[in-house]
Amino acid sequence: MNEQQRELSKQTVPRTGVKKDFSRYFQRPSINDARKRGREDVQVHRDFAIGSSMKNIGRGKTYWIQTYGCQMNEHDSEAMQGIAEELGYAKAGSMQKADLILLNTCAIRENAENKVFGELGRLRKLKLNNPDMLIGVCGCMSQEEKVVNRLMERFQYVDLIFGTHNIHRLPEYLFNALMGKERVVEVWSAEGDIIENMPRRREGSIKGWVNIMYGCDEFCTFCIVPYTRGKERSRMPEDIIAEIRHLQEIGYQEVTLLGQNVNAYGKDFKDRDYTFGDLLSDLNKEDIPRIRFTTSHPRDFDDKTIAALSKRGNLMEYIHLPVQSGNDEVLKQMNRKYTRQSYLQLVKDIKAAIPGVSLTTDIIVGFPGETEEQFQDTLSLVEEVGYEGAFTFIYSPREGTPAAKMKDDVTEAEKKDRLQRLNAVVNKGYKRGSERFLGEVVEVLVEGPSKNNDQVLAGYTRHQKLVNFPGDSSYAGKIAKVRITEAKTWHLLGELVDEHA
Ligand code: 5AD
Ligand code: SF4
Repeated sequence: MNEQQRELSKQTVPRTGVKKDFSRYFQRPSINDARKRGREDVQVHRDFAIGSSMKNIGRGKTYWIQTYGCQMNEHDSEAMQGIAEELGYAKAGSMQKADLILLNTCAIRENAENKVFGELGRLRKLKLNNPDMLIGVCGCMSQEEKVVNRLMERFQYVDLIFGTHNIHRLPEYLFNALMGKERVVEVWSAEGDIIENMPRRREGSIKGWVNIMYGCDEFCTFCIVPYTRGKERSRMPEDIIAEIRHLQEIGYQEVTLLGQNVNAYGKDFKDRDYTFGDLLSDLNKEDIPRIRFTTSHPRDFDDKTIAALSKRGNLMEYIHLPVQSGNDEVLKQMNRKYTRQSYLQLVKDIKAAIPGVSLTTDIIVGFPGETEEQFQDTLSLVEEVGYEGAFTFIYSPREGTPAAKMKDDVTEAEKKDRLQRLNAVVNKGYKRGSERFLGEVVEVLVEGPSKNNDQVLAGYTRHQKLVNFPGDSSYAGKIAKVRITEAKTWHLLGELVDEHA
């Protein structure tokens, strides 16, 4: 254990009274260590503080954080922005002008990783022109052994490498990189703790993200996330509710509850019986006007959750429910732990409890060995459920995951063809999901002027549909009643309903 880790461990507030030994953390990642799930309990730290010697290390300098991947990464970047600003850094006008560049990376598919390596290639020139610039790589790719090895060998101008579990140590890393002028590499492979009071600089002031849990224990065979994000660990409900109350008090209208598998929320609590349905019921009593959540796992989506959602109020009628495949054999190979039939039953129960609910999903085509018949099952499931949107992907092998070792005889051309055919069906769902609102009056949370026309406002409905309608910017941050006049595939057009008419 080094000095800083010792200091940190002294400051911990154990959730269940067991102290953690920090000495088992390695500097470089190891997928084997990430695979091992320790029995030790998660600790909640509430005393994040920036030492006085570090307070001004960024004064007069600028930062740029480039974020790749999911909302979890976006939200992590908000914490890193908060930390950078507490250190005195100001946000740069562009990446090219920044003194500190952090790439918050995504490992979910190979093309996500390629984007990062491409960006790093471009940064080489910037660094040559400005050797004082600091370049850091963090996020999910840093948790992968092979990536860190490649960075160490081929990208020697990267000054900082740290992972998803130790963002709170960014001040020390920057301090060491600036003072020591040497490369800082620290990636913890085993899961981290929960750090409650990191500063955050949020991107918006109307909609905000709130972590409810970290990590994933599902181990879907295609997925790298359980290795890069560690074991499931839930924030305490009191902390979540306090954060949401605070956001509501300062004007936020909507929060998205974040977790890799929000339906497993609370299963790791040893001192209480409190799961996702309980959290939703409690949040349903809060004043924040809108709440949604992502991402759900069908296996853990229980009746208590459905019952809570049926109360509506501030709980939005929108659920993202990744199915991945419509074929039982493929689902088994994926280790999804549900069947086509049990998924369809869940959808039926959700639709009965929340009439008009909008469902979206994630689907992978070309999983190793997927046959045309198995793919047809996915197509028919998409029709049967009536999704109003889907993220569709070609399977991408991830080193260290079980599926990467499976025999894959589906050709690239076949995978692309399946993706196209799937997207055609999915797009019909988008359109159907728009058209059903024609002539209806809907509530739109107005975010501000639309991208292309400042006379037109843009916002989302409770079913997560994008609506554009003429109006002035005084509506920004308010919930407006809008009649839908035209349904496009990807968005709706409407007009304000005068409540006093
Ligand atoms: N290849 C393709 N898609 C993947 N996903 C996760 N891992 C992979 C992979 N190896 C998709 C899943 C998941 C979404 C976030 O990304 O559909 O739900
Ligand atoms: Fe990956 Fe499956 Fe966990 Fe989602 S539930 S993050 S797909 S392992």
